[in-house]
Amino acid sequence: MSLKIMILGANGFIGSALTSAILRDRDWEVYGIDLSDNKLGSLPKNDRFHFVEGDITINKEWVEYHVKKCDVVVPLVAIANPAQYVTHPLRVFELDFEANLSIVRHCVKYGKRLIFPSTSEIYGMSPDAVLDEETSPLVYGPIEKQRWIYAASKQLLDRVIYAYGVRDNLDYTLFRPFNFIGPNLDNVEEPKEGSSRVFTQFLSNVLYRRPIKLVDGGRQKRSFTYIDDAIECLLTILENANSRASRRIFNIGNPANCVSIRDLAERTIRIAQEFPVLRESALATHIVEVTAGEYYGKYYQDIQMRVPAIAAAERDLGWRPSTDMDTAIRRTIEFYVKQENFSARAAALAGG
Ligand code: UGA
Repeated sequence: MSLKIMILGANGFIGSALTSAILRDRDWEVYGIDLSDNKLGSLPKNDRFHFVEGDITINKEWVEYHVKKCDVVVPLVAIANPAQYVTHPLRVFELDFEANLSIVRHCVKYGKRLIFPSTSEIYGMSPDAVLDEETSPLVYGPIEKQRWIYAASKQLLDRVIYAYGVRDNLDYTLFRPFNFIGPNLDNVEEPKEGSSRVFTQFLSNVLYRRPIKLVDGGRQKRSFTYIDDAIECLLTILENANSRASRRIFNIGNPANCVSIRDLAERTIRIAQEFPVLRESALATHIVEVTAGEYYGKYYQDIQMRVPAIAAAERDLGWRPSTDMDTAIRRTIEFYVKQENFSARAAALAGG
């Protein structure tokens, strides 16, 4: 029997990649909802894809009806950009926590399987050199550092979902994305600084020939994971109903791609030069250093090191990421360069 999957946030970065992979490589049906469909526009028409343009905080009946109707629920609607944790902490709480809690409760009520995005942020400033799903401490800063509202919201949801698993046998899998990058990550053409995550921010800086700003010198490290590797893992989780993935937590990350933010900036500038439309801009892009306070304001606190343990996914899901750092950067830039608007803007800025 074909699986019926509900994807909330089907037009997001992870949602759109997951939706297209399912429609391309599996025979499952997808019921999706999102505020718009611009990232799904290029999908070939498919009878197995049912999409509605809507807001999960408004179209509540549609959401509940489809939780009832589907086999698996994947709620991917969330604010996931650190600049917004510090400027709109209550919006993060309302959407990432409150709106998602109601979906979790529908899954409990109707006995549906839940595949829920936790986050690499959940480990906070954990002292562990390699972050383990079951043993690493979760360490956050003081309340004034509002950045942690995202991690705290996600942590409480992880605990709520876990508790529903223990008490009500909720069938769930929690996955923790570690700095996924790839096509459709953020809007690179958005000129406002700080509106996207680091890699797309750097690419946007190259596009607009603005200096790349390294927060506190760019010594902090992240492990970047290419979206196709991540989607492979999610498909394996979706396939493993009631077995290896049930009531488990998996880091989805690529420890081999642990690089400093300075290194990421240098690689981005170097690889952007391979694309004729970006070459001149990339050659003209400088790197400067700014303090975290200057860049994000006083409510921010950074994470210095973030390396995932992936033994659980390797052992129980047979999954291993394979895309190295430069390939991940190159493929992502290639995607953006192929977008008409992006290359038109790049050409116009190069000419001007
Ligand atoms: C991210 C976001 O919270 C989420 O996307 C997600 O839950 C999680 O982590 C993840 O993707 O794993 P973070 O890695 O801190 O958090 O977010 P980025 O905005 O991508 O920043 C990474 C690092 O680059 C930070 O240390 C930041 O200070 C630095 N940065 C960012 C710069 O040096 N310059 C910039 O212009 C932007």
